[in-house]
Amino acid sequence: MKIMVINGGARAMSRTRELTKAFEQALTKKGVEILPFDVGKDMLPVYTGSEAEMETATVKKLITFAEQADAFIICTPEYHGSMSGALKNALDFLGGKQFKGKPAIIGAAAGGGKGGINALNSLRQVLRGLYTLALPDQIVVDPEHFDENLRLVNQDALERIEAMTDELLRITRCVGRREEAAAK
Ligand SMILES: Cc1cc2nc3c(=O)[nH]c(=O)nc-3n(C[C@H](O)[C@H](O)[C@H](O)COP(=O)(O)O)c2cc1C
Repeated sequence: MKIMVINGGARAMSRTRELTKAFEQALTKKGVEILPFDVGKDMLPVYTGSEAEMETATVKKLITFAEQADAFIICTPEYHGSMSGALKNALDFLGGKQFKGKPAIIGAAAGGGKGGINALNSLRQVLRGLYTLALPDQIVVDPEHFDENLRLVNQDALERIEAMTDELLRITRCVGRREEAAAK
C-alpha cells in the first residue's frame, strides 16, 4: 500500500509541515510506503493549463505520486479562513483520474481560538470535486501544540493522528479488497 502525504504549508517554519511529519512517522511505524510531496520544497509553477508546465519535474512528480497512491493524507494551514493557495494550486494540477474512489484524511494547522475548521471545510469541498473518499475524522493543531523547537508534542494530537492513520489504512484495505473482488 502506498500513501501520498501532501504538506500544503509552504513557509520555512511551517507547523503544517510538522503535522505532516507526525502523520509520516505514524505511517512509518506501520510499515507503509510514503509518497511525500511538500508545496514548500517541491516548488510548482502557478497552474495555467499550458503543456510546458506539465513537463516540469515537480508537476511530473506530483502527478506520478498521486497516480501511484492508494490513499492520501493532506494537511493545510488555515490562511484567511481557508486552505492555503499553494495547496489549492497543487490540487489544480490533479483530477478525478488520480483521486476518484481513493480514501483521504485531512488535517490543518491554525492560529488558535476557533481556527482550522474553515480550512478543513474548504479542503473537503475541493476533495469532493476530485471525487475523493474524504473520511469524516479530521484534526486541527494550534501553536500551543508545538514545543519551542516546532515539534508537535501535544499527546491528544499525537493519539488522534495514530487513530486517524489506523482508520485510513483499514478503509484503504477494504476499498482495495472490494476492487479486487469486482475485477474477478
Ligand atoms: C496569511 C495568514 C492568514 C492566516 N489566517 C488565519 C485564519 O484565518 N485562521 C486561523 O486560525 N489562523 C490563521 N493564520 C495563522 C496560521 O493558521 C498559523 O500560523 C498556522 O501555523 C499556519 O500554518 P503554517 O505554520 O504551516 O504556515 C494565518 C496566518 C497567515 C500567515
